[in-house]
Amino acid sequence: MKKPFVMGLILALGVMSQTYAEQIKSLRGASDLDAPSNKVLIKKTQQGREPIARDYVQQPPLIPHKVEGYKINVKFNKCLTCHSWANYKEAGATKISQTHFADREMSVHANVAARRYFCTQCHVPQVDAKPLVENTFQPVKTIRR
Ligand code: HEC
Ligand code: HEC
Repeated sequence: MKKPFVMGLILALGVMSQTYAEQIKSLRGASDLDAPSNKVLIKKTQQGREPIARDYVQQPPLIPHKVEGYKINVKFNKCLTCHSWANYKEAGATKISQTHFADREMSVHANVAARRYFCTQCHVPQVDAKPLVENTFQPVKTIRR
């Protein structure tokens, strides 16, 4: 390829990506990825409310209690102090399901699989909030509760 052509292509792509970047609007506003969103306000979690029913079978259930200050790191997982199979009875909590012990090769381990260790990656506290986008999802009839 000729040099001027390549340079022209790079220039054109540069201009294009710039215009597209300006057009993209994120729900969380124009804040940096590592900065807190200035659009989504922290909603009050609903204490003492029955867990909100799951909308589909594979949905991670919402957390019906406060999680503020609950640490999850390499050495300690606060959630497991109540939700592990060893502790759930005493805590009166739901035990984590068997799926949480299987790694991505579907080998079942004695402890929570690494991909299920960071609980809040999938489970979020339930809040009283207006949905950000409209959703008309309906589960298929045969697996509706
Ligand atoms: C002090 C004990 C305790 C800790 C710590 C705790 N939970 Fe719970 N959790 C409970 C109890 C008890 C329930 C069930 C009763 C309720 O609150 O409705 C529950 C319910 C849940 C449910 C709903 C289960 C269902 O069947 O619908 C989820 C999901 C959950 N917790 C996730 C978490 C996560 C994630 C963490 C860590 C960030 C955590 N919990 C930390 C005690 C705890
Ligand atoms: C990769 C996503 C993911 C992660 C990470 C994860 N979960 Fe789950 N969890 C799910 C899904 C999906 C379900 C519902 C289907 C199932 O049981 O697998 C579930 C179900 C549950 C339930 C309800 C079990 C039941 O029998 O109804 C509890 C309690 C729970 N998780 C707690 C936890 C805790 C505590 C952690 C962290 C140690 C955790 N989860 C990590 C996705 C996840």
